[in-house]
Amino acid sequence: DGGFDLVVVANRLPVDIELTDDGSINWKRSPGGLVTALEPVMQAADGAWVGWSGGPDFEVPPFEGDGMHLVPVTLSAEEIEKYYEGFSNDTLWPLYHDVIAPPAYHRQWWDAYRRVNQRFADAAAAQAAQGAVVWVHDYQLQLVPKMLREQRPDLRIGFFDHIPFPPLELFQQLPWRAQVLEGLLGADLIGFQRAGDASNFIRAVRRLTDRPTRGPIITMPDADGRPGRHVRAASFPISIDSAHFDELARTPEVQARAKEIRADLGDPEVVMLGVDRLDYTKGIRHRIKAYGEILQDGRIDVQGATLIQVASPSRENVGAYQELREHVEGLVGRINGEYGEIGHSAIHYLHHSYPPEEMAALYLAADVMLVTSLRDGMNLVAKEYVAARSDDRGVLVLSEFTGAADELAPGALLVNPHNIDGMKDTIVAAANMDEREQRRRMRKLRKRVLADDVTKWSDSFLGVLTAMPSRQDHV
Ligand code: G6P
Repeated sequence: DGGFDLVVVANRLPVDIELTDDGSINWKRSPGGLVTALEPVMQAADGAWVGWSGGPDFEVPPFEGDGMHLVPVTLSAEEIEKYYEGFSNDTLWPLYHDVIAPPAYHRQWWDAYRRVNQRFADAAAAQAAQGAVVWVHDYQLQLVPKMLREQRPDLRIGFFDHIPFPPLELFQQLPWRAQVLEGLLGADLIGFQRAGDASNFIRAVRRLTDRPTRGPIITMPDADGRPGRHVRAASFPISIDSAHFDELARTPEVQARAKEIRADLGDPEVVMLGVDRLDYTKGIRHRIKAYGEILQDGRIDVQGATLIQVASPSRENVGAYQELREHVEGLVGRINGEYGEIGHSAIHYLHHSYPPEEMAALYLAADVMLVTSLRDGMNLVAKEYVAARSDDRGVLVLSEFTGAADELAPGALLVNPHNIDGMKDTIVAAANMDEREQRRRMRKLRKRVLADDVTKWSDSFLGVLTAMPSRQDHV
């Protein structure tokens, strides 16, 4: 019947597309957690990936790239503003991350969100073979499962939420909360990062819809209003391609680059590292504030230490991100002005993104990795740091408010980023940790990260999804 047996639907394609002067298209692999996670699965299954073409009004026909069939969806400038920057990143993102920034509720943004979700659903419906598995990703596309099922009841539909699902008391604020829940309930399987996210979702379904639930199973009515299909909600903590990262960090080039980075920094005793998208959920300000106070208190000697903060540019048209940038750069400037000297900065602030080779070298060069998110669905940087440290050295300071903390608590030093004094003590302890203790902890972390990799994640999600009874089994 044609069509693909596995279709991934995500806001972004795993490539960046450029139009050349002669009208042909150029593409290159784009970085990012989701892409890293799904690429191996897609290549193995020969699947199709539906995602935004990038840029406004960018019409690109489907093409083959990196062993995947790529299906670009076109958005207008207005849709980018209202669906992507607006509803996705100025409404849902802050609401789902514990309202760290205030979510904005605009009816016009919601209309655009619905319209764009419909376009993604239509594109997926056109690509999927009879009885195919369609895997929809993340908060930008929560209405797609229901829209897809309306056209294609033959499909098995999975949804994975990469970010937190908020507590009922916050989710309740959303004027379109019922529509969002119904959109998600179009799926057969709804995956979350943490068990706590899945239970937040179930609680919202129980309180805000009249769908019967039994534990993690929700029963949907059939056409006559009688109990019909079941929807399952469960946690599937995402991971990275751990072995690949481990190997990358063992290459002579990366090892040499790590030494070079330390030498360029003047071979300080302690190198600390933060790596984040420049996002207010990441606790970058809290971390830098704590570091500045540690220097002020003289608990770490400025000459003997350096903090590298990689802050990759993100969502730069959204006001809250512009404000964050101002704040972070002001803070970094003040601390460097106060404590820096000629030839030595207290903080090396880098507003760039880097390829995986350079990231691996930075991880190897860092004695202490600081992950201090105020709220984070998973945080793959924490896992990358661990995967890179085949020398069993280095200390991971990890926020309790990350999904990763559920798995990495045993080897990491957990912090509450709101507690600046507590975080300062932990950072100082990390900087002074003896080699034996570092090894003991890093071995635990590595065991976990190497065993629970991204293949295990996608296999387990797709395994549960395909084991569920499909519509075809009934007709
Ligand atoms: C998070 C989200 C992803 C998103 C990524 C980058 O990891 O869960 O869906 O793609 O951030 O953000 P951006 O807005 O640039 O796609």
